[in-house]
Amino acid sequence: MTAHNALIVDLPPLPEVSERNMNGITGLGHILAPGEIDISHGTILYLEDVTVSFDGFRALNKLTLSIDVGELRCVIGPNGAGKTTMMDVITGKTRPDGGKVFLGQTLDLTRMSEPVIARTGIGRKFQKPTVFENHPVWENLELAMKTDKGWLASLRARLDRSAQARIEETLELIRLQHDATRAAGELSHGQKQRLEIGMLLMQQPALLLLDEPAAGMTDHETMELAELLNKLRGTCSMMVVEHDMEFVAALSGATGKVTVMAEGSVLAEGTLDEVKRNEAVIESYLGR
Ligand SMILES: Nc1ncnc2c1ncn2[C@@H]1O[C@H](COP(=O)(O)OP(=O)(O)O)[C@@H](O)[C@H]1O
Ligand SMILES: [Mg+2]
Repeated sequence: MTAHNALIVDLPPLPEVSERNMNGITGLGHILAPGEIDISHGTILYLEDVTVSFDGFRALNKLTLSIDVGELRCVIGPNGAGKTTMMDVITGKTRPDGGKVFLGQTLDLTRMSEPVIARTGIGRKFQKPTVFENHPVWENLELAMKTDKGWLASLRARLDRSAQARIEETLELIRLQHDATRAAGELSHGQKQRLEIGMLLMQQPALLLLDEPAAGMTDHETMELAELLNKLRGTCSMMVVEHDMEFVAALSGATGKVTVMAEGSVLAEGTLDEVKRNEAVIESYLGR
């Protein structure tokens, strides 16, 4: 995944080569090869003192949080804690009133538009699955790969394994290899959720954000999803917002870090056992 401490991702299309030679690559605040996220300090995502107000109400209140490269971070917290708003800020959907939001060391996400952020390598899974219902499963994966991502992506696509191989590999990973030719609309809720994750994977994200991915799933589907996310460790960094504590336990294990949010900031951070024993967490979230 890494080469010289940098992830290769797709940045927005750059000017023609001659122009670039004249002007250098500007706007990144740092000299980087095109398409690299600087992870030299081991951090993929860094938020500091992020504040978002809606009509005077602080949905995020000096939120500070960072995620290591390759980490699978679970975020829990009561409704209204600001978890979804945090994802909106990371993906550029909501502009913070203040604070820092960085991808790696150098990419200031508060200065990038939503589509540009998506192309830098942040994939987001919303609560409801959004697949192309009338298209076969495999075609959903193919379509997800075919978004126009500029010259760098086309260049890399030629060097990449064949598209077919990647589709087959992903089908197996999301365990839909036997459903490849079915219309996506015929899949169960859990299968659709896995397909959507597969579609995000086709874009080779550096960071995946998943907002309550297990909502509405049966216990069995929930555990299948946990298994899939555990398999993705090392492929990309992940942030998973979830209420289902068994699911969180399956993802965080005994040593993974869990962040508890409340009232727009971090209330506690530690292993699941540690945060479960934290007085403030018991008070505001878990109940006695
Ligand atoms: N677009 C918006 N306009 C006004 N208030 C909002 C908006 N989005 C979120 N909020 C408020 O911000 C708070 C945090 O919401 P949210 O981020 O959805 O919390 P969570 O995902 O943790 O349940 C809630 O009180 C919510 O009502
Ligand atoms: Mg939410």
